[in-house]
Order: sequence, then C-alpha cells, then structure tokens
Amino acid sequence: MSHYSGSVDRDVWFAAHFEIAVEQICEFFAGDGISLQGKRVADVGCGDGIIDLGLTLRAQPASLVGLDISPTDVDHLRSKALEHAGVTELPPELSFVHCSETGFPIEDGSFDYVVSWSAFEHIGDPVSVLREIRRVLTADGVLFIQLWPFFDSEHGTHLVEWFPEGFAQHRYSQEQILLRMTEETFSDRAEVMYREYRTLNQITADGLHLALRQAGFVIAKLHLQADAVHVPVEMADMPPSRMGISGVKLLAVPSF
Ligand SMILES: C[S@@+](CC[C@H](N)C(=O)[O-])C[C@H]1O[C@@H](n2cnc3c(N)ncnc32)[C@H](O)[C@@H]1O
Repeated sequence: MSHYSGSVDRDVWFAAHFEIAVEQICEFFAGDGISLQGKRVADVGCGDGIIDLGLTLRAQPASLVGLDISPTDVDHLRSKALEHAGVTELPPELSFVHCSETGFPIEDGSFDYVVSWSAFEHIGDPVSVLREIRRVLTADGVLFIQLWPFFDSEHGTHLVEWFPEGFAQHRYSQEQILLRMTEETFSDRAEVMYREYRTLNQITADGLHLALRQAGFVIAKLHLQADAVHVPVEMADMPPSRMGISGVKLLAVPSF
C-alpha cells in the first residue's frame, strides 16, 4: 500500500512524521510518566518508517521494530533521512519486520511498549492484530494508539483533496465519488486513494474500544478529538459521537 505520498509535499510529510507525530507520541507517554528510553518498542503499521526513525533518535529505546504488511523500503527511508534531517546512517537500534495481516513473526512478551500511528482505520481485522499486540507485549506493557480520521467523521474518507466540503461518504454514492475523482484524468494517486478509501475498515471510537476489550486490553488514558463541524442534512439521524469524533489518542494496558 502506498502512504498518500504521491503529490504530498515531501518536506511537509517528513516533518509531520519525523517531528510532529514523534513529539505527540513522546508527550502522550510522558504525561503518564513513561519514557521509552532503554525500552523495547514496536510500531504496528509503521509504513515508510519515518516515525520510527524520529522516535529512535528522540526517545532512545533499546530497540525499535517497525512492523507492516508492506515491507518498509529502508533505502528510501535512508535517503529521506539524509535529505530532510541530515541523518547519514539509520540507527542500529532500528529494524523493520514484514508481518502478515494477522500475525507477527515475533516471540511472546518481546516488547515493553507498542505504538501505532494512523494505522488502525486501515487494518482489516483489528481484533486479531490487537490480540497479536497483546501477545508480544509484556504483562505490564503499554499500547499507544493514534487514529485519525474515524470513517464517519468529516474527512473520514481520507479524500479531502477531492472533497474539501467533507462527509463525502455520507453525501454521495460510490459512483459519484469515483466520478469526481476521475473527472480530470484518472491519475495513479486518485486510483490509489480511491482503493484505500474503499478498504477502510470503518471502525468507530466505540468499535475500537470493543476491539481492545475483546483482545484483552483496557483503556487507561483517552483523548478524543472533536472539532466543530457543519452537519449535512443527509446525516440528521447519525449519532453525534459517530460524526463528531474525528480522532483518538489512547494508552491501553493488558487486562488479562
Ligand atoms: C496510513 S499508513 C500509516 C503508516 C505510518 N504509521 C504513518 O503514519 O506514516 C497505514 C499502514 O498500516 C499498514 N497496515 C495495514 N494493515 C496492517 C496489518 N494488519 N498489520 C500491520 N500493518 C498494517 C499499511 O500497510 C500501512 O503502511
């Protein structure tokens, strides 16, 4: 899977992951007195690995393993690290592992902390992946999840560049969405993004909570993101918690 990188300004993309996401992860943990320094950390759905590089350099874990169903392109990461951060070598503590949709080739209890950024709305079977995370975490381990945007929220389609007015998933048919995206020329990026939109798992905040409970976690800290939105008449009957919650950051701990 590509990671929306087609026409996105690479400096903005790099900084959003290398600096902003890393800072938010570290601050969310630090708010609970948690430091990743010297700890064994994994990132589930690591994508291009930019967050993992930033997190390794900033938080100084003993090891950081990025897991993804799409193998991370380490040469590409190395060249972006040099271009945008002047980093000449990837740190030896950082590695990447190719996993399957529902399984990690990792021994039980291998990690003190697991993080996941912008991945859980893409994961086909969230309960199975959360069970795998529970398996590879230590009994007193902590899981950090960031998810944005939830499917039902204003830009839950991930198609804001074609639908700046928002809520396209509730206003338009699939045919209308595809037509708008292909009105000009059917670019590779439009094709990739439409496919990605169609494979979103449509998880809600409550659905994520349920999945965590089914996998043996309890939420220990919760930050819901909810900004003011204008509600199209087509959505008059949708519960506000579904259309109004755009994202989440949370810490979860094993319950058994
Ligand atoms: C939107 S990308 C986010 C990547 C990265 N965390 C970031 O913020 O740039 C979502 C990632 O989740 C990965 N993914 C989807 N299903 C997965 C699964 N079952 N297990 C691990 N990774 C998965 C995709 O391959 C993709 O790289």
